[in-house]
Amino acid sequence: MILVVGATGSLGGAVAQGLLAKGKKVRVLTRAGSNAAALTAKGAEAVTGDLKDPASLAKACAGIDTVVTTANSVLRGGADTVDSVDLTGNKSLIDAAKAAGVKHFVFVSALGAAENHPVPIFQAKAKTEAHLKSSGMAWTILAPNFFTDIWVGMVVGMPLSQGKPITLVGEGKRKHAFVSNADVAAFAIAAVDNPAAKNQFIPIAGPEALSWRDVVAAFEKAAGKSLPVSWVAAGTAVPGLPDMMWQTLAGMETFDTVLPMADTAAKYGVTQTTVAQFAAAALARK
Ligand SMILES: NC(=O)c1ccc[n+]([C@@H]2O[C@H](COP(=O)([O-])OP(=O)(O)OC[C@H]3O[C@@H](n4cnc5c(N)ncnc54)[C@H](OP(=O)(O)O)[C@@H]3O)[C@@H](O)[C@H]2O)c1
Repeated sequence: MILVVGATGSLGGAVAQGLLAKGKKVRVLTRAGSNAAALTAKGAEAVTGDLKDPASLAKACAGIDTVVTTANSVLRGGADTVDSVDLTGNKSLIDAAKAAGVKHFVFVSALGAAENHPVPIFQAKAKTEAHLKSSGMAWTILAPNFFTDIWVGMVVGMPLSQGKPITLVGEGKRKHAFVSNADVAAFAIAAVDNPAAKNQFIPIAGPEALSWRDVVAAFEKAAGKSLPVSWVAAGTAVPGLPDMMWQTLAGMETFDTVLPMADTAAKYGVTQTTVAQFAAAALARK
């Protein structure tokens, strides 16, 4: 039995759905108010719990072979913080899994996580990686780059769907290999019951590195017309985006994220999604 923690989220939901589609037995950790109906309808067993409640995690891990966790606090709030969820909550989950005799623990971290990173969630991810590696369980750490669905979706897809101009930050020339939610889910699913994934740190980026100018060009090609773009200086608020996003967009103007992925994708049998494919699908939904 596989426990998916975070299954009511975008990535976690895709992981749980994919495992169920492969005929795996899946348990999902749910909280009061979270909706796991789409998963229980496909045969997932739901267990009530919270990363902030260690006793609930002991119950959730009983009889589990593999834990996959994608849970995070970024889009939540209130009592769910980086400290309570991404740091202490993940530590409690690892400890509960170890105590319950879980054999393999798959953790979704983030590319660039480091204990001295200036952004707290990247520190928490790195500390969780270290705790997991020292747990004695077999581990897999997936470290994805910026998600296409979130970053391209919010920066380009959202204004387009609202009939508004796209706002780009700085010069938009740095290259980033955005990775789709579906592709990260495919790597997580491929890691389960896979001896080759045991005790592996797997950086995951998209199949191509594109600048924001390239991303807009991909949407223009898919739309068959030029699209209105306005520019703001790095560090300036972008209409419609939360502070964390326009601040990160400023940071993205200072480095590139380019990662050769062909070998890793072949090793795990993942066919990667390009930004052009994402753009075509987004415009088809519009
Ligand atoms: N976005 C990016 O560009 C990016 C880049 C690198 C890595 N990542 C990582 O990729 C993953 C993305 O996951 P996602 O898209 O599925 O996230 P999501 O849609 O924001 O969902 C968050 C999940 O975490 C659960 N959760 C939050 N607090 C919890 C708590 N106290 N106890 C139990 N569950 C709790 C939520 O449950 P409820 O529904 O009950 O609230 C939900 O299932 C994250 O680990 C993220 O850090 C993202």
